[in-house]
Amino acid sequence: VFLNLLQNRRSIRKYKANRVEKEKIDKIIEAALRSPSSRGINPWQIIVIDDKKLIEKLSKSKKYGSAFLNNSPSCIVVCGDRQKSDVWIEDASIVSIIISLTAESLDLGSCWVQIRNRMHDDNITSDDYVRKILNIPENLCVESIISIGYADEKLPSHSFDKLDFNKVFKNNFSNRYF
Ligand SMILES: Cc1cc2nc3c(=O)[nH]c(=O)nc-3n(C[C@H](O)[C@H](O)[C@H](O)COP(=O)(O)O)c2cc1C
Repeated sequence: VFLNLLQNRRSIRKYKANRVEKEKIDKIIEAALRSPSSRGINPWQIIVIDDKKLIEKLSKSKKYGSAFLNNSPSCIVVCGDRQKSDVWIEDASIVSIIISLTAESLDLGSCWVQIRNRMHDDNITSDDYVRKILNIPENLCVESIISIGYADEKLPSHSFDKLDFNKVFKNNFSNRYF
């Protein structure tokens, strides 16, 4: 069941060197293209990356939080078109998480690298940095980069007991669900 997948999911930042089979990447692409989006506009485009040199460059998208990309054999850059939809951020985020969860379902590890609203250095946004490397047109914004590869680390799943059940209410905010 899907809940089992979510129970075991962790963000993976260490990968084995072997490439991800094209069949698996193709399934991830299909899943991404099946994502729901506001008004069915699908205001996103994705770039599949398996070129080592490009991945090395992308690993420098941010000062913190993107370096691990460099040991990932592949990744997918998720872009959204703000001219096509005022909720492109939500739509691009949904694509990003679908890519990640589909990877998980295919026994692959993955991790979201936030690009939107982040800086490459004091002057250049991460969005501009990635855009230049990949020739992304002006109308598209870069939301995220999702790394994909075979996990070379095993992280414990978040235990049921540590879930924050206090966040859930019933019928009224003054009434806890649990
Ligand atoms: C919107 C979003 C942005 C994230 N950005 C980064 C990032 O830039 N770099 C990184 O290493 N992890 C990033 N992560 C992964 C989170 O750090 C991770 O999901 C969180 O610490 C919980 O760990 P878990 O996914 O293993 O349960 C991001 C996750 C989300 C949902």
